[in-house]
Amino acid sequence: MKVFVTRNIPQPGLDLLKANHIEVEVSPLERPLTREELMQNIKGVDGILSQLVDKIDGEVMDAAGPQLKVISNYAVGYDNIKLADAAQRNILVTNTPDVLTDAVADHAFALLLAAAHRVAEADRFSRAGKFQGWQPFLLLGQDVFGKTLGVVGMGRIGGALARRAAKGFGMKVLYHDRQANAELDAEIGSANVSMDDLLKNSDFVSVHVPLLPETRHLMSAPQFEMMKKTAILINTARGPIVDEQALLNALKNGDIFAAGIDVWENEPQLTPGLADLDNIVLTPHTASATVETRDNMSKVAAENMSAALKGETPPNLVKPA
Ligand code: DGY
Repeated sequence: MKVFVTRNIPQPGLDLLKANHIEVEVSPLERPLTREELMQNIKGVDGILSQLVDKIDGEVMDAAGPQLKVISNYAVGYDNIKLADAAQRNILVTNTPDVLTDAVADHAFALLLAAAHRVAEADRFSRAGKFQGWQPFLLLGQDVFGKTLGVVGMGRIGGALARRAAKGFGMKVLYHDRQANAELDAEIGSANVSMDDLLKNSDFVSVHVPLLPETRHLMSAPQFEMMKKTAILINTARGPIVDEQALLNALKNGDIFAAGIDVWENEPQLTPGLADLDNIVLTPHTASATVETRDNMSKVAAENMSAALKGETPPNLVKPA
């Protein structure tokens, strides 16, 4: 069995594939492959170990050939893969949930604290030599402790963030999800509310839904207008869930206080003007980027791949669309 890994990943995953007697070829390039390069490199392979930047549709799957059995995505999100096309061709698709939940929740909280306490802006101010002594009104931010967090999408990562907020920072937690989470509600006193109620009543709004046609631009001008002027938006899910042009306007007009954004609408490009604002904290899609988490993601991606190639049901099989 042969697998093509579209970009180098941490060694534990590669070792695990080899221990399962899988022939492994890793792209030597230190950049994402173009569509043509991807189609060329996967010819004849049984499995593709893909990155979230690899757009894989039916045409790409067909370029691999009819022996292609599995696409193991090195990410929890899988909006880069056309699930219906994979299902039509009996190709399994897998992802890497759970192992990155805590890292991403930590990162969302880091953005939340950084935006509220204006940490990145204060760092730039300090480095620029602008600090001339303590001042009563220097870089005033927003309190976090005891405030209200609104979680849009109460899945694994949303839940992990909610627990950090409630248990560590005494925050009240509202969320919006199709299903209420009775266990979490009993544990931290959270409540499932309508999207409008969440937007109107939250001091922090953190987005944790997958990217789907119905979640694209879920956060746009009407939503920012509904939020408190002191509110802060956090996005560690997928960039296109937030309308970046509307976010730029909202941050400029003072419709909301600040934002902390790990995922961008058109990565790696950022909507012009956003980087000029002081009230946005930006990270380059690095929420899961810790040594331990990336090692674990590589192992999970390899376990999924190995199981599928042995004809077993992989531990993290994505349900066909
Ligand atoms: C994922 O796994 O989907 C994340 O976006 C990676 O950081």
